[in-house]
Amino acid sequence: MTDFKRYLVTAALPYANGPLHIGHLAGCYLPADIYVRYQRARKRDIKFVGGSDEHGVPITIRAMKEGVSPQQIVDKYHAIIRDSLAEMGVSFDIYSRTSSPVHHQTAADFFKKLYDDGLFEEKETEQYYDEKAGLFLADRYITGTCPVCGNANAYGDQCESCGSTLSPEQLINPRSTLSDAIPVKRKTKHWYFPLQNYEEWLRTWILEGHKEWKNNVYGQCKSWLDSGLQPRAMTRDSSWGIKVPLPDAEGKVLYVWFDAPIGYISATKELTPDWQDYWCKEDTKLVHFIGKDNIVFHCIIFPSMLKAHKNFVLPENVPANEFLNIEGDKVSTSRNWAVWVHEYLKDFPGQQDTLRYVLCINAPETKDNDFTWKDFQDRNNSELVAIFGNFINRAMVLMHKLCKGKVPPLHTDILDDTDRALIADIENAKPVIETLLEQFRFRDALYEVIDLARKGNKYMQEKQPWIVARELEKDPQQQKLIDNCLHLCLQLAANLAILINPFLPTTAKKILHLLKVVDKMLDWENAGKLKLLSVGYSLRTPELLFRKIEDEEIAAQIAKLKGGLPQPAAETAPANKNKAGNTPSASTEAQTNAQGTEAALSPVKPTIVYDDFAKLDFKTGVILAAEKVEKADKLLKLEIDLGFEKRTIVSGIALHFTPEEIIGKQVVVVANLAPRKMKGITSNGMILMAEDKEGKLHFVNSPDNVPPGSGVS
Ligand code: MF3
Ligand code: ZN
Repeated sequence: MTDFKRYLVTAALPYANGPLHIGHLAGCYLPADIYVRYQRARKRDIKFVGGSDEHGVPITIRAMKEGVSPQQIVDKYHAIIRDSLAEMGVSFDIYSRTSSPVHHQTAADFFKKLYDDGLFEEKETEQYYDEKAGLFLADRYITGTCPVCGNANAYGDQCESCGSTLSPEQLINPRSTLSDAIPVKRKTKHWYFPLQNYEEWLRTWILEGHKEWKNNVYGQCKSWLDSGLQPRAMTRDSSWGIKVPLPDAEGKVLYVWFDAPIGYISATKELTPDWQDYWCKEDTKLVHFIGKDNIVFHCIIFPSMLKAHKNFVLPENVPANEFLNIEGDKVSTSRNWAVWVHEYLKDFPGQQDTLRYVLCINAPETKDNDFTWKDFQDRNNSELVAIFGNFINRAMVLMHKLCKGKVPPLHTDILDDTDRALIADIENAKPVIETLLEQFRFRDALYEVIDLARKGNKYMQEKQPWIVARELEKDPQQQKLIDNCLHLCLQLAANLAILINPFLPTTAKKILHLLKVVDKMLDWENAGKLKLLSVGYSLRTPELLFRKIEDEEIAAQIAKLKGGLPQPAAETAPANKNKAGNTPSASTEAQTNAQGTEAALSPVKPTIVYDDFAKLDFKTGVILAAEKVEKADKLLKLEIDLGFEKRTIVSGIALHFTPEEIIGKQVVVVANLAPRKMKGITSNGMILMAEDKEGKLHFVNSPDNVPPGSGVS
């Protein structure tokens, strides 16, 4: 293998037609950032470039639909995406955009060079045109009836109902999705890049030369090459994009997949006058981080363009991740089924590292994976808090208690096997993690870091310095055992800061602060060393690295995802949410947004059949007792007499009524609701409440004073 002098790392340019979601982060930005931070810690000469992809049809369509200019669309989303990435700690050396003048020039020059070298084939073809909207239609923007299954909303390239690949000609009653016009054929001229001429070369370069690429990447390349490459149009008819730099090319722009990857070159140009070192010298290691839908463009088309241009290096690797689904479902921006990064940052301020952790430890590296909020909570609470954070905190607390707040000495004469095993673990972690990172196996690498913290906890548990401390009065020599334990634990803490740094940079900084050491300590070459902290050095008082995430926060996120506004969790059983259509709208469970929302009556829910209604069992009851629930300002615990039995029901009405004023009230209860625990109390049912426009609650009671236990229907 070549000895690389410098690294150039790219992460796919996101389309500036919507905000960033966590699938984007997991797909390429986080892995790229981890890799770059690791290489920087190794003192490699490395540049990390990215930017927004601001051309392409989806942007023009979005602009048309919103009635604004494409420029307004990209300005808006470029800013949101750039800020989300920066706040998540994705440490680009430059985050540019393809509307920049440098890029326009670079991409146009690139095209011109291939043109002047006679590499394009000029072809006139017939394509669908929307006369109403006045533009040529990409296949995606034509719908009609699928000839295979009869689905009335099949697309010009595919029927999502039966999965058939289609062409617009096959659709019955084709329509433009933009204007509903019937598309007509029109002649148009374009410049085609003869990909087929590069097939042989690509086979050798990838299939023989890059067997080390990830299976998913290698496999996709192979299947593309096996089915044979076709000439591909590198220009489009559009008013939005980079003008084709030729005299007879009015109304033509560069194909977005031609211009966007050149954006990597333009961004490097904007970053440094030495950009040619990174792009043109053979001893550069170029790595493209992407999502799986980008594989063909980065492994086949762009390399062929680079090859044709001649002056550029080729990617050494193209690590692509698969997709991240959310709660078992594919991300869909139109259905708003996504976790938006800018919203996460608002809802979990200062908790970037938790998201970085979860997205890395559960990254879709080899197959599609699922993000669930429950898993997010579990991993934070039982891995970050209970293992990693706990180890660092215990080491700090015990050092203050048992070693006067200073790094204790190491008494090598009394080291035992347990100590030696821990020392070996610290020394061995570095090469293992290093190898995994070099192979782009980030989840395994992160697992090793957490595992090392786990070993630290186990070591402390075996040594039990707090028990040894009890013997001190009788035998002061025991202090040496305590010293050794905490000396090693603190050196391990310093090591953990170095190892976690590429993944969770904020956490690494916090550890540095506790240990009162400078950034320099995070240099990768320090990993595995046992003398990072000097004996006698006094350290800061401990602060927690992570906080526990509560059930309420998770329930609120799930509610938000499932379409509602964020809801106070204690009152909203996610299990009941799915059945919302069956729940009386005036119930306490349905009115969870009572405070803070605009004055309005809730809309009528979707129609149900009688059988759905008949499943509900309403009974009249009387409130016998009421009291506040500890640590839940919205909940009251009620004792209800149903005539045939007494029930405990927890109800979210504490902000509306005092316990005293509701004793003796008549209520209507949903008597056959599955029991549910709230703040440790089992609630057996639900009382109905009416909510008025102002959000004020009223009891639903029977006017005729019927006895408790009467049925209501
Ligand atoms: N905008 C594309 C997407 O989101 C990625 C472009 S990557 C580049 O799928 F190489 F073309 F820049
Ligand atoms: Zn079909």
